[in-house]
Amino acid sequence: MAKLSLPLNSPMLAKDFLYGVATASFQIEGGIEHRLPCIWDTFCATPGKIADASDGAIACDHFNKWQEDIDLIESLGVDAYRLSVSWPRVMTEQGELNPAGIEFYLDILKRLKSKNIKAYVTLYHWDLPQYLEDNGGWLNRQTAFSFAEYADKISQAFGDLVHSYATLNEPFCSAFLGYEVGVHAPGIVGKEFGRKAAHHLLLGHGLAMKILQKNCPNAQNGIVLNFTPCYSNSDSEADIKATKFADDYINQWYIKPLIDGAYPDIIDQLPKAHQPDILPGDMEIIQQPLDFLGINYYTRMIYQADENEHYAEMPVPEPRTDIGWEIYPQAFTDVLVSLNNTYTLPPIFITENGAAMADKFVDGEVDDQDRIDYYQGHLNAVDNAISQGVNVKGYFAWSLMDNFEWAEGYLKRFGIVHVDYQSQQRTIKASGLAYRNLISQR
Ligand code: FCB
Repeated sequence: MAKLSLPLNSPMLAKDFLYGVATASFQIEGGIEHRLPCIWDTFCATPGKIADASDGAIACDHFNKWQEDIDLIESLGVDAYRLSVSWPRVMTEQGELNPAGIEFYLDILKRLKSKNIKAYVTLYHWDLPQYLEDNGGWLNRQTAFSFAEYADKISQAFGDLVHSYATLNEPFCSAFLGYEVGVHAPGIVGKEFGRKAAHHLLLGHGLAMKILQKNCPNAQNGIVLNFTPCYSNSDSEADIKATKFADDYINQWYIKPLIDGAYPDIIDQLPKAHQPDILPGDMEIIQQPLDFLGINYYTRMIYQADENEHYAEMPVPEPRTDIGWEIYPQAFTDVLVSLNNTYTLPPIFITENGAAMADKFVDGEVDDQDRIDYYQGHLNAVDNAISQGVNVKGYFAWSLMDNFEWAEGYLKRFGIVHVDYQSQQRTIKASGLAYRNLISQR
């Protein structure tokens, strides 16, 4: 059997190092007739936006198969399950709780509890209710306050069933991909929009953090950010400067306000029209103390200087995963160490890491040695960062199972469990077995 291993003295083999698997509501649930529409329903219905013209109507049918899926999670031997709540499933347009939606998640949370699996709940993994988008979505400051109300109601309804709350998943993706380059829902394009959306997302995070700390003082409350470390294409001063700008624009932009209460200095280089609308007191709200920081890592990027833009993205070298992202575990260690050197950080959880591979389902098995290699390289990278002083407390594989991979539809498979979308049958891949084996070694 293919194995995953860590050095015998690795803190990642200690009993208190937490292992989990992660999913997100829109990517797995389906059951759309039981909730309000969200921006991803609308985006999927727009021709040309999703590679295989698919949508989230059924996805992994987790809406109906959640019990079986939790049994599957249990069978992997993980300590924790990171899931997200579909805002349009649990709230009505009038801002009231929707009892049927609440019941769906309460049942899940109770089953997790009965199996001693810690629930890591993300409140916003990109499925904004469409009625809010119709009023401007994250470009409307009011959405931050609607998010806080949702956080308030939901955290009261869930009581002590939740071990940890994350306010947002990857605000970079929501803001930049959704409101600046438009490859994600709601598909808005323009440099004048991205920073404004980001500011309202971060404001919503800060408002919600205060509420979570009040409603659930015993839960571990924080946020999940993604990092795509930026490397310069050459040693030239111009390329290094461009790369630094890119890093500030796509990475530091989201962490610096949380920890230092300020945006990176490049904000002054942006035209006034591209800058966020910051009202007095906003940065203090955003800079709430965090119980933990969730970090998602998949790949790195390479940049050089450009005559017309602040930076130019370079094509990435091989090896690459099936989604085209370079496999470069060194950048994972580098970014963890550099964040730790730059900021005063709370404990860190790796809330996502994993790989899309061109899996072959043969004789009822998936022998995904390439994914196992990816995990091995990246677990080692985390171990290296820990030995350089970074306080990493846990690791979640993305993803529990193959699912709707946003603009790529169902074409890219990230699961450690294979999903046959016709029969909805789940099969643990070799990577899933290796992950289970690693966890059981502690
Ligand atoms: C992350 C998302 C997650 C998944 C992975 C591959 O950016 O948070 O939902 O799609 O990428």
